[in-house]
Amino acid sequence: MKMGSYFPPEAYGELAEGISQILFSADEIQARVQALGREISHDYEGCRPILVGVLKGVFPFMADLLRTITVPVEVDFMAIASYNSDTRDLGFVRLEKDLNTPIEGRHVLFVEDVIDTGLTLNYLLRNLQARNPATLKVCSLFCKPQRRLVQIPVRYRGFDLPDKFVVGYGLDYRELYRNLPFVGLLKPEVFQPD
Ligand code: IMP
Ligand code: MG
Repeated sequence: MKMGSYFPPEAYGELAEGISQILFSADEIQARVQALGREISHDYEGCRPILVGVLKGVFPFMADLLRTITVPVEVDFMAIASYNSDTRDLGFVRLEKDLNTPIEGRHVLFVEDVIDTGLTLNYLLRNLQARNPATLKVCSLFCKPQRRLVQIPVRYRGFDLPDKFVVGYGLDYRELYRNLPFVGLLKPEVFQPD
């Protein structure tokens, strides 16, 4: 295997067997990530942006995107825990790990793996906005437009997804499938909604 290339889906054995359909191949994802990186590099020329991500789902996308950005850039992460299901629906989250970097006056690009209802992101953006960054924009690899409950301006978007649960490239089902380099739908017999 060449550096920078990926194993074929069959190589992932029982994980790949749980997938009913591949929506985006590793190559398609990498090509889209490169295009986003080019756009970001152009737009943020000369202003040393800081990319902010929420663990854990975003880490493969963040790692790939970061390396397609050709201007000086910093990166930092937050970690959150959703409250119980009653409050989760309101988008309340608890910060388990905050940023290490003060962002006042900085150009912040919030990097997200998938925006579903948008509730979590809406909460986090309000939290970050309160710290008075110079700019605060959003880059999301995936968006599920049909599921959106709150409007969020997404400056850089990778792909739109159908209203279905997907896994791979950082996205998990019960903590598995994050290591797949492609994104696909789970077979119904594997996926049991809570
Ligand atoms: P939101 O508050 O509904 O936008 O929640 C978004 C979060 O839900 C994402 O950051 C993911 O962690 C998770 N999520 C949403 N859709 C999917 C999916 O299809 N697969 C895996 N995780 C998902
Ligand atoms: Mg996430």
